[in-house]
Amino acid sequence: MQPWVSLILAVSLDGKLSQTRHQRPGFPSVNDQVHLETQVSRADAVLLGAGTIRAYSTAFLIHNPELLQARTLRGQSPQPLTVVASRSLDLDITWPLFRQPMDRLLLTGELSLEQRAYFAPHVEFLVCGDSTGVDFRQALHLLHERGVKRLALLGGGQLVAQFFALGLVDELWLTLCPVVIAGKDAPSAAEGLDLPALPRGQLVETRRLGDELFLCYRFARG
Ligand SMILES: NC(=O)c1ccc[n+]([C@@H]2O[C@H](COP(=O)([O-])OP(=O)(O)OC[C@H]3O[C@@H](n4cnc5c(N)ncnc54)[C@H](OP(=O)(O)O)[C@@H]3O)[C@@H](O)[C@H]2O)c1
Repeated sequence: MQPWVSLILAVSLDGKLSQTRHQRPGFPSVNDQVHLETQVSRADAVLLGAGTIRAYSTAFLIHNPELLQARTLRGQSPQPLTVVASRSLDLDITWPLFRQPMDRLLLTGELSLEQRAYFAPHVEFLVCGDSTGVDFRQALHLLHERGVKRLALLGGGQLVAQFFALGLVDELWLTLCPVVIAGKDAPSAAEGLDLPALPRGQLVETRRLGDELFLCYRFARG
């Protein structure tokens, strides 16, 4: 069994996630922040690539009292478990991520004793895969076993490409933002892999707020 995987992204009109890999995106509106918080509030866990954490240094927290109350009524913890995927574990223990009030899990393929000692007081580990990286299919299975029924995948593009390659995305919430970025170092919504078959989504929801479009696509697994 695996969790339902809901991928949530905001992109520019040319499909970019931010201006440079080291920056958080500056273009999504307040409406998109509300949308993101609403979608994330439904999840038992949030998964991010280490590249995204290096750009943000924080996890995404739910603040809206109504969303927090709805989580309590559903029997969920106040905040989703934050899961960060990394091969290198090149992450800094002084970042806010490691002090924020939520459970966190470092997902990696291999872990040395030194790495475990560096992070141990602040974080749990899920070691799954090998030195080439995490086996995401197996990781989803293990997350489901520990109660994660709904996973919000928040990017970035490297993780997104792997999830599509493995056929592990159930739905994509895409916010199309009215800016063009075009920079040669601007990361794309999915990158780094040639997909053997092109995943094709079914459009199940569209909403316009101001100049942004909020789209939801469903994908068949596998
Ligand atoms: N607009 C949006 O909605 C949105 C959403 C998310 C991110 N972003 C932006 O996207 C950019 C970051 O994206 P990105 O593509 O560079 O990074 P990413 O996908 O978030 O992270 C890439 C990193 O994830 C780890 N990783 C990837 N595959 C792995 C595997 N199989 N096993 C273990 N670890 C694995 C590696 O970490 P290590 O290097 O530590 O080994 C890799 O360097 C930032 O600019 C951020 O602001 C925007």
